[in-house]
Formats: sequence, C-alpha cells, structure tokens
Amino acid sequence: MTHHTVLLQETIDALAIQPTGLYIDATYGRGGHSALLLSHLNEQGRLIVIDQDPRAILDAQTKYATDPRVIIIHANFSEIPSCLKGQGVWGAVQGILFDLGVSSPQLDESERGFSFMRAGPLDMRMNDQSGPSLRDKLISATPAELTKVLYEYGEERFAPKIAAAILHAFSQDQLDTTLDLAQLIQKTIPAHLQERHKHAATRSFQALRLWVNQELESVQHILQAFPDMLAIGGRVAFISFHSLEDRLVKERMQTLSRSPALPRGLPVRETERSLPPMQTCIKMQKPSATEIAHNPRSRSAILRVAERIG
Ligand SMILES: C[S@@+](CC[C@H](N)C(=O)[O-])C[C@H]1O[C@@H](n2cnc3c(N)ncnc32)[C@H](O)[C@@H]1O
Repeated sequence: MTHHTVLLQETIDALAIQPTGLYIDATYGRGGHSALLLSHLNEQGRLIVIDQDPRAILDAQTKYATDPRVIIIHANFSEIPSCLKGQGVWGAVQGILFDLGVSSPQLDESERGFSFMRAGPLDMRMNDQSGPSLRDKLISATPAELTKVLYEYGEERFAPKIAAAILHAFSQDQLDTTLDLAQLIQKTIPAHLQERHKHAATRSFQALRLWVNQELESVQHILQAFPDMLAIGGRVAFISFHSLEDRLVKERMQTLSRSPALPRGLPVRETERSLPPMQTCIKMQKPSATEIAHNPRSRSAILRVAERIG
C-alpha cells in the first residue's frame, strides 16, 4: 500500500525552500514530502532524510542512494541533535519537517502488528529492530499502567474494563494476534455504546501504538531541541494527527514566539527588546475538503509552521 502524503503542497510552500539550503525530513515514510522538497533544491542543496522504520529507510536508499544531495539516516528523530553535531551543521538548517505518526504501509501491512482489521503479531513497533514490542510490554504491564495508557493516549472511557480484559486474556494465552485483540476490545465495549463509523478498537490501538513507540516522549524531546538547529530564517513544520501531540506542538510554538520577559519597570524601548526565538508562519492549517475526500486518513491532520528569528 502506498502512502498518500498529507498536506504536501501546503507544507513545502510553507517551508519556503531555498535551492541551496540544508533541509531535514525527519519522518521520511515513503518520501512524498522529500520528493517535492528535493525538486526545489539545486546541486548545492542538501536533504537529510530520517526515519526509525527500517523499511522506510530501505525505500529512501532505493530511490536516493546515488543522489549526492541526499543523506539517509536510520534513527529516531529525537537523536537528530547528535546526528547534526556529527555532521558539523548545527544551527545551519534551513528547514525541518515532522510529519508525525504512522505511515499507511505500517498500518496496512498486517505483519507490522498495527492493524485491527487483519491478523498480525502483537508488535506495533515502527522500528522493529529494537525496543520492546506490544507483546513484550504486555508481559510486565500492570492493570493500572495499561488503564492509564488507554485513558490518556486513547481517551478511551472503557479503559479499566479493556485493560483488565486484555491482561486476563493475555495471561490465559488467548491473545495471539492483533485480530484477537481487536475482537476482545469489541466484545468488552457494550454494543449500544460503541461509536458509529469507528471500529471499537480504534482508540485502544492508537493508545497502544503511542505507548509502544513512546511517540509523545520523542515529540517532547525534539520540541525542546529544534530551535537551535535552525539557521536564522530557517523554518520548522509539524503535521500532527493526535490531539495530545498537536497540543504539545502548539504550546511550544506559543512559548517560543513570546519575547523573553524583562524585569518590571526597566526603561527599555520597543526597538531594544530582544526578539523571541521564533515567529509563527502558519498557526494552524487543516487539509482541504478535496484532500479529505481523496484521503480520509488526512482528516485529523493539523499543520503548524514557525520561523527562527532570534
Ligand atoms: C506519516 S509518516 C510520514 C510520511 C511521509 N511524509 C511521506 O510523505 O511519505 C510518519 C513516518 O515517521 C516515522 N516516525 C514516526 N515517529 C518517528 C520518530 N520518533 N523518529 C523517526 N521516525 C519516526 C514513521 O516510521 C513513519 O514512517
């Protein structure tokens, strides 16, 4: 299954690409954003592509191994600071893109263990070469921990019931595949209280995925680090699909676009005030109705873009 890139033109336009600039696509996926970005770079431009999924990296290598402008790195984007310092380009980046969450191939290939429609292993790791899988995490999870995950990451109101049912079935060896898990969740939520047009396991699967991949932790980490990577005039774009993720991005952008506080009563002219680190370029943009009709998975996407000014 191919990945339909979300907010493609809007994001690349908002990054205001300079042909000779250095850019980072921190979530390569299947390279939809990277391809358009590269089409704006001349032979001096550089694009660093990153993904924690080995299959995404294989895709990048297949397409760009011989393109001297492209540097391909298999890593979690929270490791970008150390990658950049190693390349000697700290503070020189003209644009970074984070298109957060999962790609369509990850969701659709049953063997990755993300799908509640098809039987796959209890895995859900974007990087299936390292870290604990869902099965590993369930071995040591307590009911309280699992309930918290389902409540906080999935806003699942039946979290305690679902957590208890999962851990019971797991301890009885009755939970082998993602389909077993989806059916168990569906049975646990009373039929008349299930949301229309949404599989009963949607919220729980999303929560478990965020837990396994520590997605919010990675976002929090990079939100602290990214401004210093950018050159003055460099831009960052975040596309979020989850309200908790978007809230983290929004709050950080707000903080960064406020001028540093001065002690009260200090006689400082407006022109002497130091600039905030960032200014907002796009406060919030959603996909058009046409894009949502063409790609329903885009419906929850939110794009936010900011520029380094200080
Ligand atoms: C929504 S897809 C990106 C799609 C891409 N923009 C395209 O057009 O094909 C998200 C990608 O980011 C990767 N990803 C998510 N979190 C990551 C992280 N913390 N570090 C590195 N890659 C991550 C996933 O493996 C997935 O391939």
